Amino acid sequence: MNAPREDRRCLAFLVLAVVPLAGCGGSQNALAPESHQARDIATLFWWMMGGAWVGLGLVVGLLLWSWKRRNRRGFGRDVEGDKPGEKRSWYAVVVLGIVMPIAVISTLFVVSDLFVIKTTQAPASTTTKLTVQVIGHQWWWEVRYPGTTAVTANELHIPARTPVRVEVKTADVIHSFWVPELNRKIDTIPGRSNVVELDADQVGRYRGQCAEFCGLQHAHMAMYVFVDEPSAFRRWLAQQEKPVEAPSSALAERGARLFLDGPCSSCHAIRGTDADGYVGPDLTHVASRATLGALTVSNTPDDLRQWILHSQQAKPGNQMPDFNASGARLDALVAFLEGLK
Ligand code: CUA
Repeated sequence: MNAPREDRRCLAFLVLAVVPLAGCGGSQNALAPESHQARDIATLFWWMMGGAWVGLGLVVGLLLWSWKRRNRRGFGRDVEGDKPGEKRSWYAVVVLGIVMPIAVISTLFVVSDLFVIKTTQAPASTTTKLTVQVIGHQWWWEVRYPGTTAVTANELHIPARTPVRVEVKTADVIHSFWVPELNRKIDTIPGRSNVVELDADQVGRYRGQCAEFCGLQHAHMAMYVFVDEPSAFRRWLAQQEKPVEAPSSALAERGARLFLDGPCSSCHAIRGTDADGYVGPDLTHVASRATLGALTVSNTPDDLRQWILHSQQAKPGNQMPDFNASGARLDALVAFLEGLK
């Protein structure tokens, strides 16, 4: 084999080896932990990764060694084998094939099951100060703060440095709530409630994603966890608890009538009005949210307008039909929704 060709193969191998790593980094990175639970998970991952590399090195080393030995003797000559060598191979089989796997798997079991699973678990009792309910829907997240009237969608606000008990449920199929930088995933199972704890070290915005295939728009079932300073969190919650304010302009007033008399109100709720639908997200404070459609598009007036007209284009299969509104009616609807801060 000539050298340039071998170099090219080496290069191709390196490129292929690097491609899977390109997914690391950026937001939603389990290897950039921001809580003590996520740190334990990342540490376990690195130990497993290190162990896997040592195992791979050992296997490749043994392969090379046996290949070299075989070449020295000549191909086929060692079929019968000499007696002392045969005995050594039996030791190798027992140690490397039986003793070592048992030792490695037992160690992993002890470290993951007895240590990391415990440290990442939510406390059994309701000793935590704050509980948040998250309900998975095809394909968005409903968020409730028990004891308050606040209901939001696709974004969870929590105070920093405070253990928060997150109770997850589903309104339809199995989903999985996962915020990689904060803790492990937790499935939402029909008919039961599961719990995970979020305890973020610092203020920031963390992306979460449904981690269980749940239909056509599984990929567009994401959320943001906003970690605020405790005082900012309390202000946010107080604002979310307020019912809707009266429309501030004639245009918004027209939009409100369109919303309440039209089809919107049969699927969406707005606290303080007659709209009490439960099919889509509660829109009482929709204008305070960063995105629409579970992080499908940003929540700007332009995107909101496009979302109302063509949500089936942005997120095919979602429960909201495209809304055929003329320019003036659309302006009014957008003005009304934009006022719901
Ligand atoms: Cu919900 Cu995937």
